[in-house]
Amino acid sequence: MNNFDFPITRTDTPVPKPDMDKLGFGQYFTDHMFVMDFDDGTGWHNARIVPYAPISLDPAAAVLHYSQEVFEGMKAYLTRSGDALLFRPFENAQRSNNSSRRLCMPVIDERLYIEAIKALVREDYDWIPDREGTALYIRPFIIATEAFLGVRPSKKYSFYVIMSPVGSYYESGLMPTKIYVEDEYARSVKGGMGAAKTGGNYASGLLSQEKAKAKNCSQVLWLDGVERKYVEEIGTSNAFFAIEDKIVTSPLTGTILPGITRDSVIELLRSWDMRVEEDRFTIGDIFEAHENGRLSEVFATGTAAVISPVGQIMWGERSITINENTTGPISKRLYESITGIQTGMIADRFSWTELIPKP
Ligand code: COI
Repeated sequence: MNNFDFPITRTDTPVPKPDMDKLGFGQYFTDHMFVMDFDDGTGWHNARIVPYAPISLDPAAAVLHYSQEVFEGMKAYLTRSGDALLFRPFENAQRSNNSSRRLCMPVIDERLYIEAIKALVREDYDWIPDREGTALYIRPFIIATEAFLGVRPSKKYSFYVIMSPVGSYYESGLMPTKIYVEDEYARSVKGGMGAAKTGGNYASGLLSQEKAKAKNCSQVLWLDGVERKYVEEIGTSNAFFAIEDKIVTSPLTGTILPGITRDSVIELLRSWDMRVEEDRFTIGDIFEAHENGRLSEVFATGTAAVISPVGQIMWGERSITINENTTGPISKRLYESITGIQTGMIADRFSWTELIPKP
């Protein structure tokens, strides 16, 4: 098969599967996990699949103090023939390495990264849910494990992959969400860590998320960190706005996450001869476009969120309702196309999917 044969220790106590109709997001975990260690002398070594279990860390481990960690999110989908598909896993492996470089962490050979994930999916294959709108969410992450309180890059790391059968990310499912524009706190600035997928970016967003929740909104719309007026991204996903005959989204200038779904959406839209602009625009532009009847749709894109239509945006005292709070035709077509390709129902003319044959 390949030269990545990882030793496997199987669990003696497999856990019962959850009700696949009530999965929610990230609440249940499969029976096994992948682990690999790094130290400065040896490099990455001791790759293995072991029973899913709590991990033991020295209380002085660098990740606990200085947040040296990166993570990824991807999904495995069950096809009608019973095989599984990963969606653009090389992009995740590459982005993980880019995040690692930003945080002075060691990179992982991309083939090894993907083979580790494939091996774990094969091991817990019967955890891939088969209901429409469900998938096996895969969470690879790397943490700094050296016990040392000085501030410098750790000399030891561990790479883990855990997996969770999931349904919709939002409790509202595919219903349009209500979004709160954060004009007090910022998520990132140029030169910061905004483009890295690292826990700190998400921790710094929690306070704003709580503010959003208090206003009955499910996510935050982030503005730029300098002038608090340019639109950046929506919570844990990228943001798209359909204005007249074009669709606009923020450019990748280092302050937002380079989303893999974002990239796929841009490619799909262009393949449908739709105009996509990756350019800066302000929240004022969006409200003005709404006032003039030019804003027809807003949606967020992400691995967890897939395509998530936005029905309402709150900005200070102002609030707008988009497309009568219903899912618009572009969001619907994108959702159907992306999930169709991901689940093998639609031919993958972009070569985005990677097959894991049913073991
Ligand atoms: C993903 O879409 O995979 C993410 O990483 C979002 C996650 C933080 C829930």
